Amino acid sequence: MAYESHEIGRDIVARYRQKTGQSDKHFEAAKSWLPGGETRRASYFPPYPTFMEKGEGCYLYDCDGNKYIDMQNNYTSLIHGHSHPRINEVARSQMEKGVVLGSAAEIQYRHAEHLCNRIPCVETVRYGNSGTEATLFAMRVARAFTGREGILKMDGGYHGMHDYAQVNIFPEPKTEGLPEPWAEPWIPRNLLKDIYIAPYNDLKTVEGILKKHKDQIAAVIVEPMFSAGGLFLPEPGYLQGMRELTERYGVLLILDEVMMFRLQYGGLHTYYGIKPDLVALGKIIGGGFPVGAVGGRKDIMELFSPAHPHPVFHSGTFNGNNITLAAGLATLELYNGKAVEQLNTMGDRLRKGLKKALQDSGIKAQVTGMGSLLMIHWRKEKPKTARDVFATLLPAWDLAGLFHLEMLNRGVFSAPRGMFVLSTPMTASEIDTAIEALEGTSALLKPYIADTLPHLITA
Ligand SMILES: Cc1ncc(COP(=O)(O)O)c(C=O)c1O
Repeated sequence: MAYESHEIGRDIVARYRQKTGQSDKHFEAAKSWLPGGETRRASYFPPYPTFMEKGEGCYLYDCDGNKYIDMQNNYTSLIHGHSHPRINEVARSQMEKGVVLGSAAEIQYRHAEHLCNRIPCVETVRYGNSGTEATLFAMRVARAFTGREGILKMDGGYHGMHDYAQVNIFPEPKTEGLPEPWAEPWIPRNLLKDIYIAPYNDLKTVEGILKKHKDQIAAVIVEPMFSAGGLFLPEPGYLQGMRELTERYGVLLILDEVMMFRLQYGGLHTYYGIKPDLVALGKIIGGGFPVGAVGGRKDIMELFSPAHPHPVFHSGTFNGNNITLAAGLATLELYNGKAVEQLNTMGDRLRKGLKKALQDSGIKAQVTGMGSLLMIHWRKEKPKTARDVFATLLPAWDLAGLFHLEMLNRGVFSAPRGMFVLSTPMTASEIDTAIEALEGTSALLKPYIADTLPHLITA
């Protein structure tokens, strides 16, 4: 690791190693059986990930017995933290009756009924097991409905692991002019001709593409707040403009709410007062179990119906499995309007505290996000596009890594890319402990920043 060439970097890594010896041993053993010792890219960080053993409320315990405030929450899928008594009770009681029964079950339409009552644009729902499947099927049904193949997505937007979603997951490497579709060589080249790319927050480019290619494009897919690497808000009027343009050019609008749904009772798009044609859902709606769902306008969703003369084939061994939906429904019922508001207020407290701590320590950084989702950017101005984010993310990669490790050393587990995710069991005490950890971490890292990224030092 490059940061081990700096004394402060070496000290942080040494203290991490000292504290997490058993994780190191597990990681060495895991390398024999898992390529690179892991099975999920997002869970890995150098020198080795912390091997967690138990979660309780908003705390995690690793295999060395260390306790952490969990501010990662399985990358946003956990809204009530770990082992919530009500969710456990419901899941256990479903388990007693069978995990998945291979047939229709009441819980499937009860969960769907809840989503339909909760999200104004959702009239009917279909389930899968991941957000990846949700966006895959949203795009597929959009193609079936419109008879067109094209998808317009945002440069740097993340919508899961399927091939259509794996285009421009990172911004196109060139930094001038408009981004063009690109993907790694293992994504079929043929597919690139059906993907259209615009920067996030850029309505003019979207309009230009739609005007020219409306007869080829089935849908625009966009997040109500940009997640991947950036976690920044849409500019005023952006989402409303997207709705207006897609309507004007007869193209469907898919809102990817897989991550952002937690931010408002009916999904984040309701905060902006827009009604998409389809929404992709996942993460918290499964109560901690694997889940994905697509919902939306009945006339589009009807294409999934087996009664349709030419239905979109949609199946999956674990679709709508009883345990996910029972735990998911209990989770959503607990996460009512008041709980959403309280959690977002907690997030605002943390955002304010992090901003102040960074400012007081004389380090230039941005804290973006909304409510229970936050992200630290090592840069002077707020980002507006993925290109902005990556321009400063890559040079500050080692700093972000050290920051994450030192927060772990101080008992706060966050996402290595600088993202913090809250859960309802958290109180002001956990928030203030995290702010204190950040104050200490900033003070420790300041000389490192002065040596490696001096433009980030204000005083
Ligand atoms: C916005 C968005 N869409 C889709 C996905 C894919 O969800 P999953 O990881 O459940 O496949 C994610 C995952 O992080 C996401 O953040």
